[in-house]
Amino acid sequence: MSEPDALRTAEAGRTIEAVVANLARVVHAPDETLRLCVLCLVAEGHLILEDFPGVGKTMLAKALARSLDVSFSRIQFTPDLLPSDVTGVNVFNQRTNEFEFRPGPVFANLLLADEINRASPKTQAALLECMQEQQVTVDGESYELARPFVVLATQNPIEYEGTYPLPEAQLDRFTMRLQIGYPPLPEEARMLTEQTADPPLDSLQPVADARDAVALAEEARAIYVEESLNRYIVALLRATRADTRLYLGASPRAGIALLRVAKARALADGRDYLSPDDVRAVAVPVLAHRLIVAPEARSTGLTDAAIVQDVLAKTPVPV
Ligand SMILES: Nc1ncnc2c1ncn2[C@@H]1O[C@H](COP(=O)(O)OP(=O)(O)OP(=O)(O)O)[C@@H](O)[C@H]1O
Ligand SMILES: [Mg+2]
Repeated sequence: MSEPDALRTAEAGRTIEAVVANLARVVHAPDETLRLCVLCLVAEGHLILEDFPGVGKTMLAKALARSLDVSFSRIQFTPDLLPSDVTGVNVFNQRTNEFEFRPGPVFANLLLADEINRASPKTQAALLECMQEQQVTVDGESYELARPFVVLATQNPIEYEGTYPLPEAQLDRFTMRLQIGYPPLPEEARMLTEQTADPPLDSLQPVADARDAVALAEEARAIYVEESLNRYIVALLRATRADTRLYLGASPRAGIALLRVAKARALADGRDYLSPDDVRAVAVPVLAHRLIVAPEARSTGLTDAAIVQDVLAKTPVPV
């Protein structure tokens, strides 16, 4: 590693940690959870937050946007939401006698898609297409989305009535699934004081900007990966495919996501090369939501996350 590269990598690691520390000032959640959110962004991925109401999901999204000084928009998904409510529409301008494109909320750096499973499959598909293509096409015209572009989609794990759960094929397009969970007692108590006296989000200052975010993503791409680690990732994927407790294993796309996030973790650590630990540390949040546990296994209480843990324990780690 040459000297300037080493410096750049170390600097990138410090920037990521600064963003994580900034989030921690506002959101009471384990540092590892907050770090994973930032890694998802550095990996240029999209995130599913599956959690109960009122645990700080919106707070987290706003704090992330504020920390990086990027544009933020929010869509509440409802059954009557139309694809054009997400992407934007062409409207007729009477003065110029021409149609002009009015961009929808998807044209932001950070988009919070609240309760994504409440919208019709058609509208869900419109959002997922934007995520996949990094662009919007309306009446044959294409419009580039912003960079960085990150979707934080929330799903409520208890209310399934009247919802359209995302099919696995669509879940696969999300890089990561995370839960925030309830804070430990002392933290929750402290949060009560903060929120009712002087909410920390109001005074949160940016620690980086959109250009830094794009630069971090570029740095992460350049992380060196030894061939044995590519093979290790594929071995993990294949182990899920061969697992009889699973009805659906991990796709090749899952492998790409796993490598991207693992590279982001190496960068956060100030390293310019990947280690097996990077892969292991992010495997559950990157892989678990893509798997379908077979009904017999599910009835014994086995979860997708537990199966990923098991696969990690059984697959030989390259030395
Ligand atoms: N872990 C947490 N850290 C900091 N604040 C929190 C946390 N959990 C809840 N809060 C506070 O509770 C309130 C509700 O949080 P927020 O709106 O972010 O929840 P949510 O998960 O988005 O809920 P919903 O599912 O209803 O959208 C906010 O004032 C927020 O500050
Ligand atoms: Mg919310």
